[in-house]
Amino acid sequence: MLVRCCRVKLSVWAALCVLVIGWFYVFPVYRLPSDKEIVEEVLGLGEAWKKNQTGIDLYRNLLTECCNPRWMFAVTKENAPIGKVLWYDGEYYYSHTVNDETYSVFVQEAELGVRRSRGTPDAYLHSVYRLRTTTPLKPLKKCAVVGNGGILRHSKCGRDINQADFIMRCNLPPLTKEYLEDVGNKTHLVTANPSIIEKRFQGLLWSRKAFLDYLKAYGSSFVYMPAFSMKPGTDPSLRAYYTVTDSSSNLTMLFANPDFLRNVGKFWKARGVHAKRLSTGLFLVSLALGMCDEVTVYGFWPFSIALDGQPISHHYYDNILPGKWFHAMPEEFVQLWHLHKSGTLRVKKQMIKKIDLFMHAANYKFVGTSSDAISE
Ligand SMILES: *[C@@H]1O[C@H](CO)[C@@H](O)[C@H](O)[C@H]1NC(C)=O
Ligand SMILES: *[C@@H]1O[C@H](CO)[C@@H](O)[C@H](O)[C@H]1NC(C)=O
Ligand SMILES: *[C@@H]1O[C@H](CO)[C@@H](O)[C@H](O)[C@H]1NC(C)=O
Repeated sequence: MLVRCCRVKLSVWAALCVLVIGWFYVFPVYRLPSDKEIVEEVLGLGEAWKKNQTGIDLYRNLLTECCNPRWMFAVTKENAPIGKVLWYDGEYYYSHTVNDETYSVFVQEAELGVRRSRGTPDAYLHSVYRLRTTTPLKPLKKCAVVGNGGILRHSKCGRDINQADFIMRCNLPPLTKEYLEDVGNKTHLVTANPSIIEKRFQGLLWSRKAFLDYLKAYGSSFVYMPAFSMKPGTDPSLRAYYTVTDSSSNLTMLFANPDFLRNVGKFWKARGVHAKRLSTGLFLVSLALGMCDEVTVYGFWPFSIALDGQPISHHYYDNILPGKWFHAMPEEFVQLWHLHKSGTLRVKKQMIKKIDLFMHAANYKFVGTSSDAISE
């Protein structure tokens, strides 16, 4: 009896083993380098970085082919006419059919210029790169994509960031005086997730003044909202649009095109990023790689390196962690790191110096992320 029982158990185990082996054969486990390996590699490379025009051109072409950032990153009157069905990219089975009301809030491509700034912080040269021209567009020169990672704290990257021609930031980060030295104060495009409108500004159902006052920090930049990623995000996004356009604000509201977000997601998935959703930062990096000649990224460091048991904060301004499995930030970082190594974009070196400091501490951990989801 006992023997028979064991035999049954054995065969069950054997069957399980075969199943598991078969599973791994069909779906090989994607091995991510460990945090330690990454940090060591980052250190090994040190300060050396050389721009690789071949890599830059290659990625611009790849991204233009898959996702066409210049034409598609926002919904416009041209790419989303009345009657067009916009499928939400962050959930299944929901769509929005463009109607008179939504059509009226979409920008016209001709209005979509990129305001450049040069020289003194306030000298905005309103030279406009039209998205629609007959001649091939010259790419923007220097772009900065600023994540919100705690690694930016005490980084003194502010001046460097401010010198870029086009500065993108994630999810309405605070730009108050205390952070000026570390993150700068100029912005040309800032993303805003509908959830922040809900959580911090009562969904804009009551007073709108706090929201408008808060937005003053972004001057006359674009505010980029994923209005068609999750169904509950559409109404708050429209309210944000009306709040801004009914005021004397100089901001331009843009709604992310769900087709663009979906295609960018596929692009990175094919390159090993297995997150359910990309982080806002990687969407902006994709946009920048498609439109700019030189891309520098700041504040992307999804590792928490403990110094005397003290982790770096999650954001440069707070330490609130996002949902655990939503993003695959280390995977995303590996992608950025590959691009950095090949000279296609630059992960800013101030960060590396800082890691150097932290390397003296032996125990660091993989925790948290550097920017939030675009659709939350
Ligand atoms: C430059 O980029 C191309 C395309 O990504 C790559 O094949 C090449 O190895 C890179 N060159 C260097 C020196 O890294
Ligand atoms: C950025 O900060 C500098 C120094 O405080 C200030 O002179 C400048 O007006 C600020 N620029 C913006 C766009 O807020
Ligand atoms: C918008 O820009 C104009 C011209 O630069 C400026 O005078 C005005 O104060 C700005 N409005 C707001 C709300 O910042």
